[in-house]
Amino acid sequence: MRVLSVASEAYPLVKTGGLADVVGALPAALAPHGIETVTLLPGYPAVMKAATAKVVRTWDDLLGEPARLLGGTIDGHPLLVLDVPTLFARDGGPYADATGRDWADNWRRFAALSRAAADIAGDFDLVHAHDWQAALTPAYLRYDDSAVPSVVTIHNIAFQGHYDATVFADLGLPDAAFALDGVEYYGGVGLLKAGLASASAITTVSPSYAEEIRRPAFGMGLEGLIEVRRDRVSGIVNGIDPAVWSPHADTALPAPYSVRTLARRRTNKRALEAAFDLARGDGPIFVVVSRLTWQKGMDVLADTLDTLVALGGRLALLGSGDAALEAAFLDAARRHPGAIGVRIGYDEALSHLLQGGGDAILIPSRFEPCGLTQLYGLAYGCVPVVARTGGLADTVIDANEAAVAAGVATGVQFGDVSVDGLVHALRRTIDLYRQPPLWSAMQRQGMRADFSWTRSGARYAALYRSLIAA
Ligand code: ADP
Ligand code: GLC
Repeated sequence: MRVLSVASEAYPLVKTGGLADVVGALPAALAPHGIETVTLLPGYPAVMKAATAKVVRTWDDLLGEPARLLGGTIDGHPLLVLDVPTLFARDGGPYADATGRDWADNWRRFAALSRAAADIAGDFDLVHAHDWQAALTPAYLRYDDSAVPSVVTIHNIAFQGHYDATVFADLGLPDAAFALDGVEYYGGVGLLKAGLASASAITTVSPSYAEEIRRPAFGMGLEGLIEVRRDRVSGIVNGIDPAVWSPHADTALPAPYSVRTLARRRTNKRALEAAFDLARGDGPIFVVVSRLTWQKGMDVLADTLDTLVALGGRLALLGSGDAALEAAFLDAARRHPGAIGVRIGYDEALSHLLQGGGDAILIPSRFEPCGLTQLYGLAYGCVPVVARTGGLADTVIDANEAAVAAGVATGVQFGDVSVDGLVHALRRTIDLYRQPPLWSAMQRQGMRADFSWTRSGARYAALYRSLIAA
């Protein structure tokens, strides 16, 4: 089976978040099931470096632009690079310029990606489109009357690609597509909406999130459509790529370790303290590796920091995002020298040190489709402290009395994303930390849990097969 995977980012070429990790891991996850995954990415400068001279196809007019499709490889798997210099040869990030402002023509950039995907879809058994940036692909296939089945995966329904109706004329879709069951969305054009209305199947990245998005609080305007298409919607939890995230083979760690050599983590903890200017202490080091946004509950965390320190905790935070939140965390680090260390920016190697040296990772998200950092925390013995939502609820087992007694606890969950809710969770965590046998049992339980792609790879393979057979 040959599958075309269409996305706007993929690790290790271009990454702003978990989407890249998942798209990067899927080819290896699916290979054991007899599936060859070809990944199609926009030709940003970072991706062009992975392209070869091989021209697979050219367009004189791809939504108004001359374009080429180049071959390449990503981690040894086949890659297709859409080279459209007018759209993708830009400095800055995949979605925004260097100052953080979204490119005004994002709708055209990602419509071109999707149009190209639909044009080559006939060479594949199935097309798998990720998030709003690729979601027009199923819509193009549908209005092309293509027989190729398609899957849309929602990694985050908060990002929808919603644009003014005036862009419709340039999408190259028939007039009939500007309809309630097509791309029309609250009077404008909805790229994710178009994909959800057109795809043969819809997945999201955890079973809980698949349920949550049927409700207004989580569906963000798309709950009605999700409900109408509920027979097509399923949740498949993300896995982690052991080639990138294994503590015993992690070159970013001063002291790699395994479940049998947990004591070696101490060396990493010392390195972490040095990297974040933290004073030694006998309380736990909480870590954060996150986009600094409202979704991630980072405003609540910022308001909780004085208490965290008063309780004897320390914090090492790596992240970037909202300017006000960045400032709030830097300010907390100034108020609590030696107890709070903050690094604003994006640093892949440092994110490994945080997982390999920290005691507990804080993830107070208001919603979380899956979340990967709690999975990395579990694999690294960095105990996750998480809000009970989406994939966080599905992957962490709360250390309540029954779970502790049964020896199955892997972390701490809390229900209410508020200062009180988080403080309560911090107290519980510190209390567990002060009982070393219990704490290390929790670490080991998490490290032994299987969050590889084995099961989820099989579920995607089964879904693909059912659609191809239909
Ligand atoms: P989301 O995709 O919503 O941001 P996930 O938990 O699914 O959340 O994935 C986030 C990914 O990005 C993880 O691989 C995490 O380690 C990484 N990450 C987030 N912020 C940073 C940062 N500042 N530096 C390095 N890696 C980061
Ligand atoms: C999104 C979600 C995150 C998920 C990731 C990968 O960025 O916010 O929860 O883990 O996609 O699926």
